[in-house]
Amino acid sequence: MEYTFIMIKPDGVRKGLVREITERIDKAGLQIVKFDVRKLEGNTIDEHYSHLVEKHFYPSLKSFMSSDYVVPMIVYGENAISAMRSMMGPTKSAEAPKGTIRGDFGDKEIVTYNIIHGSDSPESANIEIKRFFNIDIPELEQEMENRKVKYISR
Ligand code: RTP
Ligand code: MG
Repeated sequence: MEYTFIMIKPDGVRKGLVREITERIDKAGLQIVKFDVRKLEGNTIDEHYSHLVEKHFYPSLKSFMSSDYVVPMIVYGENAISAMRSMMGPTKSAEAPKGTIRGDFGDKEIVTYNIIHGSDSPESANIEIKRFFNIDIPELEQEMENRKVKYISR
């Protein structure tokens, strides 16, 4: 069982895909334990894409990521990181198979417009969960425990 950080990007929000994507996550047997709708600060985008800041496409990636609301989420379940990466499909939507989120909805010409982000390893999941929800895994596990108790006692 693991946690991963997922974010519906501005194109996914604008195409009205929040319900479609959250439904796919549910149907895969994964659980959305945190969900938010917000606009990102420039410095959060710089941190999140620090491995790409030198790339020629970074200015357009940054302006895209700040162009509208995004939906950050924490997703929990069995092999959540790889399960979500498979559900998303590869970075380039043009190469993503049908049935994946990027294959079904991503822009086939502009790589940047690929609908969704998902952590690529347990290390980046922990860092991204902390960055976007200001919580670390032990605290999150404690919170989950507390929520379970509250739910059962209702
Ligand atoms: P993500 O981090 O968003 O889940 O995507 P990823 O791991 O599949 O890809 P990564 O290499 O981390 O790139 C991050 C995001 O930058 C945009 N991008 N644009 N050539 C381009 O124009 C280009 N290359 C990457 C995409 O939005 C990609 O998801
Ligand atoms: Mg990445």
